Amino acid sequence: MPGDERDLTVAVTGPTGTLGFSLIPLLEADDRVTQVVGIARRAFDPAAYGWSKMEYRRGDVRDPKALLDAFGNADVMVHLAFFLTGAASREAIRSINVGGTLNAFRAAAAVAARRFVYPSSVAAYGFHPDNPVGMTEEWPVRPAAQLFYAQQKAELEHLLRAEAARSARPALYLLRPATVLGPHMVGAKARLPGHLAPLARRVARRVGRFRVPVPVPVPVVPLPLQFVHEEDVGQALLQCVAAAGPPGAYNIAADGIVTAADITRELGMIPLPLPAGPAQFAARAVAALPFLPPVAEWAEVASHPAIMDTTRAKQELGWIPRFTAIEALRDTLRQGLELDPTSPRTGLPLRGNRSPLHMLPSCLVPDILTDAADVTACRRPVGGTSEGWHTRRSVPPGHGWTA
Ligand SMILES: NC(=O)c1ccc[n+]([C@@H]2O[C@H](COP(=O)([O-])OP(=O)(O)OC[C@H]3O[C@@H](n4cnc5c(N)ncnc54)[C@H](OP(=O)(O)O)[C@@H]3O)[C@@H](O)[C@H]2O)c1
Repeated sequence: MPGDERDLTVAVTGPTGTLGFSLIPLLEADDRVTQVVGIARRAFDPAAYGWSKMEYRRGDVRDPKALLDAFGNADVMVHLAFFLTGAASREAIRSINVGGTLNAFRAAAAVAARRFVYPSSVAAYGFHPDNPVGMTEEWPVRPAAQLFYAQQKAELEHLLRAEAARSARPALYLLRPATVLGPHMVGAKARLPGHLAPLARRVARRVGRFRVPVPVPVPVVPLPLQFVHEEDVGQALLQCVAAAGPPGAYNIAADGIVTAADITRELGMIPLPLPAGPAQFAARAVAALPFLPPVAEWAEVASHPAIMDTTRAKQELGWIPRFTAIEALRDTLRQGLELDPTSPRTGLPLRGNRSPLHMLPSCLVPDILTDAADVTACRRPVGGTSEGWHTRRSVPPGHGWTA
């Protein structure tokens, strides 16, 4: 922390979701943090996870008084409560996301918190045809054409900057994470009805075990993707809590790029890349269909690559991601998914990373498939094979997308 900051109270909205499970264990382990106060709507017992510093309160970010009551002593506020997916009216989504975030910032200002840490998203850049590959933080955040989430992320960045400009406290830290992978990637997002939950949990725990017995061809959109592992996004949040760098915006993504074809290969199937142009057109068309629920707008993500440059977070925040993108994907497949964040993990069996492809005679399996299924592939030098660009920060030539 800057200077000799100690004895910190950190307030966290939405600690029971994906990013909550990435950050709270780090706060628990940090000697400079004395107390963590968390607020979300569901019943939750921090002691079940050994989270001894956390006082948990049930409350809604749409209720300013609940926030002020909970966060009266906060030195730093981390605002994670947000609606990403699920079924809710547009009005309800907006009141949680836009209203709730402004309530949280104003509560932080009212209690004179030193810092307000908020994960925006790569989606804040929108999915515009002129977005370059390797966007730096200087590239403008602009509302997406359709996706409510991306529109609200862009709007909120502008609103929060305007609020923060009014006074010195709290200093505003905006992270822009890529898609977060890891065992808690489902977090508090849309869940299945009660009677289907046990089945869903069983399926999730087998995600990493799923491999087709023989490689079957599957059509895939040739979209380059960035990921970040939940452990690494937690570290980035902690660096902001600790003011390890100046306030401002930071892109957060693992090194390397993964495609839908890579994911298909990881599951033991053969990707058949679709032509990029028609796939891009179809994604825009689906996202723009009238009368569909807001969740359908997520199709817009496939309409243009959103690839960020993360140099600033590394140089100014001192953030060092442990997982590359392909390692984050493999770790997620290896560990399976925890679908119920309100019940402690029971210790899932660790599974091997070898797909059935490795059991076939090598003369029957093209190199590219076994390469992709080999856990060490992501450490190969850049340019040596078709997989070499996992360690690059840019999209390889011939990926088919116009930047
Ligand atoms: N996960 C990603 O891939 C990703 C990537 C980039 C940015 N981000 C950003 O990171 C933040 C956290 O995302 P996440 O993935 O952790 O989400 P999540 O798993 O859906 O968790 C959301 C958290 O917010 C709480 N919450 C939702 N509505 C609330 C309300 N009205 N009042 C109080 N608490 C509420 C939820 O608990 P209850 O439901 O019990 O209230 C839960 O604790 C979001 O701003 C998200 O946009 C996430």
